[in-house]
Amino acid sequence: MDREHFSNDITVIMAMAGSAIGLGNIWRFPYMAGQNGGAAFIVIYIFCAVLLALPIFLSEASIGKYTQSGTFGAIEKLLPGSKLRWLGMITVISPLIILSYYSVVGGWSIKYLYVSLAGGFGEDVASEYGRLVSSPVIPLVCHTLFLLLTSGVVLAGVKSGIERFNKISIPVLFVLIVIIAVYSLTLPGSAAGVEYLLKPDFSNVGPKTFIYAMGQSFFSLSLGVGTVLTYSSYMKKDAGLMKTGFGTAFFDLLFALIAGFAIMPAVFAAGIEPGSGPGLIFETLPYIFVKMGITLPFLSRLISILFFLTIVVAALTSSISMLETGVAYLNEEKGFSRKKAVTVLFALTWTLGALCSLSFGPLSGVKIFGLNIFSFCDALVSNFFMVMGALLFVYLAGWRMDEGQMRKETGAAYFFIRYVSPFVIFAIFLSNLL
Ligand code: TRP
Repeated sequence: MDREHFSNDITVIMAMAGSAIGLGNIWRFPYMAGQNGGAAFIVIYIFCAVLLALPIFLSEASIGKYTQSGTFGAIEKLLPGSKLRWLGMITVISPLIILSYYSVVGGWSIKYLYVSLAGGFGEDVASEYGRLVSSPVIPLVCHTLFLLLTSGVVLAGVKSGIERFNKISIPVLFVLIVIIAVYSLTLPGSAAGVEYLLKPDFSNVGPKTFIYAMGQSFFSLSLGVGTVLTYSSYMKKDAGLMKTGFGTAFFDLLFALIAGFAIMPAVFAAGIEPGSGPGLIFETLPYIFVKMGITLPFLSRLISILFFLTIVVAALTSSISMLETGVAYLNEEKGFSRKKAVTVLFALTWTLGALCSLSFGPLSGVKIFGLNIFSFCDALVSNFFMVMGALLFVYLAGWRMDEGQMRKETGAAYFFIRYVSPFVIFAIFLSNLL
């Protein structure tokens, strides 16, 4: 079968950055940095990104590039006949689980974009979020819409869908987030937000900081679930992996930092406490837009539209990479056409996503290990599956791939891939287990 390929290194980096840049950069990084030592956290984060995340990235990427197969097929090639290869199924399932609940949040963002466009938020915006997520119908409609958009891009194929969408979206995302940051930094009282984000505070730095920084770099670069592997299998043979790895990590961090400058100054200018997670984007910021809207109705509307547009697009560039991972599997291993694969996976992720969505409302009574369905899916993948996937990838890259080729491609990082990463990842796994 003829394999489609990304046109060049730039478009590979755009696609990888598209997968990496997402909700994690916007709602998690700024808060993590602020809470865990400001500039000190950022330095530790860079350290973890280079020493831990990059070797994992390079492992996944070299497996994809050299086997020219999607996630399960690649593992099968490296572990022929071994029972261990079945572990590879985790990396087929993980991105689909993430897609299911990510699409629910993508749906909320669509709803907020719609509200921004249709006339802005009402006075009781903070409680509106609780009402939205617990109501059954609207979140389901928006989840469906988000998943349809994702499917549309993936259906169009690697080059005319994924490559084209990312090539346009990534520059647009940077322009949008810079506009918002510039605006945010000019608000009176914004300096406190900059200080929150950057002031080095070593009293907050400890072993825990490293665990947080590792976890964040892991999630933010979309590692361990076969997405990097799948995208890399669309690389041409002459594509440089180091360049791609550093490029992706650079754009991902840059976006996270600018997002911090877009969000925290506004939060502090409005005199509220920064939170993390969905509350930050769906409660705190809309509240700020309402407050600003009293004096600056036009500008506040505009910024609110741009902001939710940024979130929807950033989430889409990530979600298409998750869906593509599953599509590549069904296409190559099961002989499904792209159309059939997208249709089947749409049905599956729509259903699991719907359960996740309803778990804030009608199904809130259903608990798995004390978590609702949405949080359980997130915890299962983020704490266990992603880590197990990463462990499998560094093992395969460090011990199953051709050594000479790996050394040539990954240079000094090879030592880490082979001897250091497996132990560090195992330690993370244990710490998640406890
Ligand atoms: N990196 C994405 C973000 O920052 C989230 C993510 C985690 C992801 N794992 C993934 C995206 C796998 C695509 C595929 O929001």
